[in-house]
Amino acid sequence: MEQKRYGHFDDLHREYVITDPQTPWPWINYLGNEDFFSLISNTAGGYSFYKDAKFRRITRYRYNNVPMDNGGRYFYLKDGDTVWNPGWKPCKTPLDFYECRHGMSYTRITGRKNGVEASVLFFVPLKKWAEVQKLTLTNQSNEVKHLKLFSFEEWCLWNAATDMENFQRNFSTGEVEIEDSTIYHKTEYRERRNHYAFYHVNTPIQGFDTDRESFIGLYNEFADPQAVMEGKPRNSHAHGWSPIASHYIEVTLQPGESKDFVFLLGYVENEQDQKFAAPQVINKEKAHALIAELNTTEKVDKAFAELCDYWDKLLNIYQVKTANDKLDRMVNIWNQYQCMVTFNFSRSASFFESGIGRGMGFRDSNQDLVGFVHQIPSRARQRIIDIASTQFPDGGCYHQYQPLTKRGNNDIGGGFNDDPCWLIFGTVAYIKETGDFSILDEMVPFDNQPGSEVTLFEHLKISMDHVINNLGPHMLPLIGRADWNDCLNLNCFSWDPNESFQTTENVSEGTKAESLMIAGLFVVTAKDYVALCQKMGKAAEAERMQKAIDAMIEAVKKHGWDGEWYLRAYDFYGRKIGSNECDEGKIFIESQGWCTMAEIGADDGMVAKSLDSCKKYLECEHGMVLNNPAFTKYIYEYGEISSYPEGYKENAGIFCHNNPWVIIGECIAGRGNDAWSHYAKILPSYVEEKYQTLHKVEPYVNCQMVAGKDAFRPGEGKNSWLTGTAAWMWYTVSEFILGIKPDYDGIRIDPCLPETAGDYTVSRKFREADYDITIHPNGSQKGVKQIVLDGQAIDGTVIPYSKGHHVVEVTM
Ligand code: BGC
Ligand code: NOJ
Repeated sequence: MEQKRYGHFDDLHREYVITDPQTPWPWINYLGNEDFFSLISNTAGGYSFYKDAKFRRITRYRYNNVPMDNGGRYFYLKDGDTVWNPGWKPCKTPLDFYECRHGMSYTRITGRKNGVEASVLFFVPLKKWAEVQKLTLTNQSNEVKHLKLFSFEEWCLWNAATDMENFQRNFSTGEVEIEDSTIYHKTEYRERRNHYAFYHVNTPIQGFDTDRESFIGLYNEFADPQAVMEGKPRNSHAHGWSPIASHYIEVTLQPGESKDFVFLLGYVENEQDQKFAAPQVINKEKAHALIAELNTTEKVDKAFAELCDYWDKLLNIYQVKTANDKLDRMVNIWNQYQCMVTFNFSRSASFFESGIGRGMGFRDSNQDLVGFVHQIPSRARQRIIDIASTQFPDGGCYHQYQPLTKRGNNDIGGGFNDDPCWLIFGTVAYIKETGDFSILDEMVPFDNQPGSEVTLFEHLKISMDHVINNLGPHMLPLIGRADWNDCLNLNCFSWDPNESFQTTENVSEGTKAESLMIAGLFVVTAKDYVALCQKMGKAAEAERMQKAIDAMIEAVKKHGWDGEWYLRAYDFYGRKIGSNECDEGKIFIESQGWCTMAEIGADDGMVAKSLDSCKKYLECEHGMVLNNPAFTKYIYEYGEISSYPEGYKENAGIFCHNNPWVIIGECIAGRGNDAWSHYAKILPSYVEEKYQTLHKVEPYVNCQMVAGKDAFRPGEGKNSWLTGTAAWMWYTVSEFILGIKPDYDGIRIDPCLPETAGDYTVSRKFREADYDITIHPNGSQKGVKQIVLDGQAIDGTVIPYSKGHHVVEVTM
């Protein structure tokens, strides 16, 4: 049967083109690359914020709304009695044509109705604190058109959390100013805030509204605002209640005529002593300046061209050409794009993350960095310092921090014992990409306390020590509140539904709960640490850590092997988790991934057996599930994991994030066919057609979780966009499958491919060099036979770094 389709890829323009507004779930995009950000759905829903989706929310958005995704930046067009929106919503007037093109940090939504075309280009110009909305109206009919145009934005009272709860105050604080075609939102500016927002259009207006109820009417909705339906703005001035911004413009278009309108949603911060121009009147100088930079079509087009150029350059750092379009489009466009988004937002703001719950994650951001470091290393460098600054002197760390303040989040605190290792993972990736060892000498504080600074290298050292100093009865790492799996809460015995599994640690005293995932993670990252120490001439430290690695490997072989796979953990009482002896949850993916990546027991056949067990017990049509069999009942000693119904999330969902761990394990073991088949199952472009309706979420990015084989609806995707899957998919394909691995002294070439792979070329910019690398697999899954660099055969598999352009031929 023909599958229903909602859109398709346009690789030439690097866009996903949505052709039906009624997608199975809002299919969104992100605007902005630094500081000012917006989320935008395919019907123009979503919101904007400055740096922090919780503390500096600019426009209001209601999660959990009915219908979904109501509220956004809306343009209403009244043409005679017909009122419509270019993005179909909120009026839902049937359109003659609809298209949404999500591109690299921009979205273009076009609608046509009764001979009028309205096309809106949304983007945030580089280095500007503003969202541009360039609306082009074209009269495609043979008659003169008299249109009434209304814009619409709803202000959030800055703190997105209190905006949703503190109504006794909120309904009295709202304030605006109106000046010509600009509406200013200045709630709380009179007291401690030194920022305001504005909504401007570059043409004279014939009316406006700033009070929501005056515009919409108390018993109407976004779909039928009274002012619009009657074609009469109220010129309302908001005092308290819910301030909005709406411009009213009368437009006459001759047949064939086209007009542009540039709308600008901007954000401004003033110095404390520069806040006011007169008593109660805000200082608008910076707003005027920002407007002046973006108030014509020419200026906006130029800013847009700069943005496109920026993305061209970023994406050109790594481009592959294979015979496989589906692979190329993910590697060259969407996977890299998603990596930038996860780097920017960590797990803070998406259509599944409300922007008020979680800030930047310690482990999450370190992993995100690995997908991003090749794009803008200087930003990755700063991020590493920010993250390390939230560490404690014993090597433990805050699990999350707020992007605005960069301070550790006390609500969640620390105690996730995998966290410290990730700092090595991120830092090593940065140094390998850049060759910049100087980052290790940066002075970095503990818990942001001035005066507590030690070098970043010292932070890495105590990170390793934190693992070594917290070993359990089997000499395996104590798990703490949880390791990577936030839901394996082995020290939280909770019968109280009001307790958070993440922050409750009822019983850590005397715990025997140990993690095989951390054991594997430790071996992988400690090997990197040893190599780094050797590189720096710290032989004694390298030797000390090598001993710890050897001991950990012994402990895993002795106490962490279940016969066919690696155990997952020991619980509080020292009982096995993830063992054949267990009734449910006999095998878990995380320890298979990390212990195979660490090659623990490879010579004894453990790695191969573990990988085979993943295929046998975890793999299904949609990918590999996290554990098997799924838990069918709540286990008090295990925590949140067993709180989920079978097949969802951490209880046997396909947690896409960890599939790449096993895939890398396969690659290290040289099993290219298996690696590829696992990879293709969770590669969005591969499942695009099959799952347009089943999968539901955006077909151009990975989602965190696809419902597993035990679920009621296997194959359904959830939690799109903000997931470590992005960086791991990138790391896997770029370094382990295609085999282009940055290393301290150059690029190591080590592909692992399915035997059907043909020749391919990677062009890779690396520091101040660029390499055109052609690989001839010759039917081999792994093993480089010869590398010819600029016509000369070289020894080994590392292309030594030197500036300039180089041509490389690789024979496998
Ligand atoms: C989710 C995890 C998530 C955690 C964060 C849990 O409910 O299942 O995936 O990391 O919440 O707090
Ligand atoms: C999502 C969290 O962001 C991540 O840190 C965690 O590792 C996974 N869930 C698994 O629980």
